Amino acid sequence: MAKLGRFITFEGGEGAGKSTQVARLVERLRVLGLEAIATREPGGTPNAEALRKVLLEGLVEKLSPASEAMIFSAARVDHLDKLIRPALARGAYVICDRFADSTRAYQGGALPENFIDQLEKLTVGETVPDLTFILDLPAEEGIARADARRGNGKADRFESEAIEFHRGLRAAFLTIAEKNPQRCVVVDARRSVDEIASDIWTCVHARFIGAQN
Ligand code: TMP
Repeated sequence: MAKLGRFITFEGGEGAGKSTQVARLVERLRVLGLEAIATREPGGTPNAEALRKVLLEGLVEKLSPASEAMIFSAARVDHLDKLIRPALARGAYVICDRFADSTRAYQGGALPENFIDQLEKLTVGETVPDLTFILDLPAEEGIARADARRGNGKADRFESEAIEFHRGLRAAFLTIAEKNPQRCVVVDARRSVDEIASDIWTCVHARFIGAQN
């Protein structure tokens, strides 16, 4: 399937504000009359949303990092086949809340790098994001925000991990950004929603929209 659209992903630890920024970006693209789709991982299709429940809501006992990585990847294959690739082939912007970098950061810490490299290649093939925003903030701040957002609700599989795990995640995302400087832009997520959205828009406009005029 030819790719005419643009694939933009948002990554980061818990409470970084990704979903708000995904919604803001989609809104701005639509104002210009462009087709823009907001989606998320794990999820985005009925099968992948069902796998999301399995992975996050404690329907199964804690899985090994390898099996967890493979289920996230299975959900991703369904999402790519049924939603992401058809939308890109139509020329749409696909804005995705998490993608393969999350598997590398969340599951990869406990797996050989080669395992994640191969799994990622098999899962995504050529469909690598054109641009990835890494929303960066200290782990403590992200967790405090996630706790406040959740209120009395139960913490999910990853929210309930120890703070060291979340510190490791932040470092893992920053390493991904360092290794992929063309694709990744690190955004300081401690600022206001408007400031962050403005930086993100400037970047998307410069790369994809202004460039066409
Ligand atoms: P969120 O999108 O609401 O942040 O929830 C998704 C959770 O799943 C989050 O804790 C990160 C985790 N996750 C992984 O561990 N691996 C993955 O590949 C993806 C996409 C998400």
